Amino acid sequence: MNKESKNWVKQNKNEYYFKSSKLEGYRSRAAYKLIEIDKKFKIFQNKKNILDLGASPGSWSQVIKKKFPKSNLLSVDIKPFNKIKDASLLIGDFNNKLVKKNILNFFNSKVDLLLSDMAHNTTGNKNLDVINTGELCLESIIFSQNILNDKGILVSKLFMGSIFDEIKINAKEIFKEIKIFKPKSSKSESKEVYIICKDLKNPL
Ligand SMILES: C[S@@+](CC[C@H](N)C(=O)[O-])C[C@H]1O[C@@H](n2cnc3c(N)ncnc32)[C@H](O)[C@@H]1O
Repeated sequence: MNKESKNWVKQNKNEYYFKSSKLEGYRSRAAYKLIEIDKKFKIFQNKKNILDLGASPGSWSQVIKKKFPKSNLLSVDIKPFNKIKDASLLIGDFNNKLVKKNILNFFNSKVDLLLSDMAHNTTGNKNLDVINTGELCLESIIFSQNILNDKGILVSKLFMGSIFDEIKINAKEIFKEIKIFKPKSSKSESKEVYIICKDLKNPL
């Protein structure tokens, strides 16, 4: 495929997901990434307590509530965003200890599914962006030990780059099974991928 054809495919793909999200009432096209992840890894099977980190503007939480209206969902973001019907909202920085404490207090039991689509604000320096968002991913991996039940699943965004090996090593220390996946709905020019981690080795 020549450069022009590639650009045409890219533009059409982006437009397709954008239009679909408007038609289906999702707050962002990110919804389709979660739908694809679930199609491939069946992450929602028997999952009741669900934590959605980096939830704003809310499309992942919308997908969850549409599929599982009775799920116990906590949607967390550093940025304020509009409430999603039947989901609980927590506005705060996930790096903050008190926010983590509030998350633990919210759930009476352990969480079945931890989702993190958190992405640090871009800085203009691509390597720094990879590291900043990678650190949020590492935080979610470490937090999994406190909050996930032993058969729980973590799905976390990261950008491929210098921090990838560190993330993989940490994830392998904590989980029995890890997979890396790039949804088709994720922009092809983006380094974004998701790590899917299953079954804690040593839950706390
Ligand atoms: C790509 S957006 C998430 C989109 C969302 N999954 C959806 O479907 O609508 C990334 C989000 O991560 C949030 N974020 C970044 N750093 C964070 C932090 N330290 N704590 C909580 N949220 C954070 C941003 O505010 C942003 O809303």
